[in-house]
Amino acid sequence: MSIAICPGSFDPITLGHLNIIRRTAKIFDRVIVCVMFNSTKTAPMFSVEERLDMVSRAVAKYPNVTVDTFSGLLAEYAKDHEGAVLVKGLRAASDFEYEFQMNLINKQINPALETMFLTADGKYTFLSSSVVREMAMYGADLTGLVPDEIIEDIKRKAKQWRA
Ligand code: PNS
Repeated sequence: MSIAICPGSFDPITLGHLNIIRRTAKIFDRVIVCVMFNSTKTAPMFSVEERLDMVSRAVAKYPNVTVDTFSGLLAEYAKDHEGAVLVKGLRAASDFEYEFQMNLINKQINPALETMFLTADGKYTFLSSSVVREMAMYGADLTGLVPDEIIEDIKRKAKQWRA
């Protein structure tokens, strides 16, 4: 059985993430979406539990996709899923530079681990969780940017943050 791991901080999950997950689910038998910590992003909008819940609702329609979380190194997590391949989305050349470095670090820790990249759908190349957080803080409409299932969660959180 082919297994893909789609890792990310998903703070929050966007339609760009979901597009990569959906396409990965067509290629692999099983996809694990892993909600992780990114130590460079120090003040997340949502807790890990909230992110897990939102990702779970967003991927519920895909039968071969499951959701997990891990607080350690991604390359160590992959060791527990032998043969699994990391799948990540690339929006622009700037993403490639960062991902290329991550790939080399992951290989140092787990030499058997392979990473595959899917290019982002053109309509999502501008989209990121940080754009969504910024728009939410200004009360902008998030339709078409994040899964419908989580729009209310983001609005609620943005309201708390503004208060
Ligand atoms: O959605 P993001 O924030 O771009 O995802 C980045 C993430 C969470 C996949 C990356 O930060 C990660 O792999 N974090 C786990 C810790 C780790 O393995 N870091 C890389 C080696 S130092």
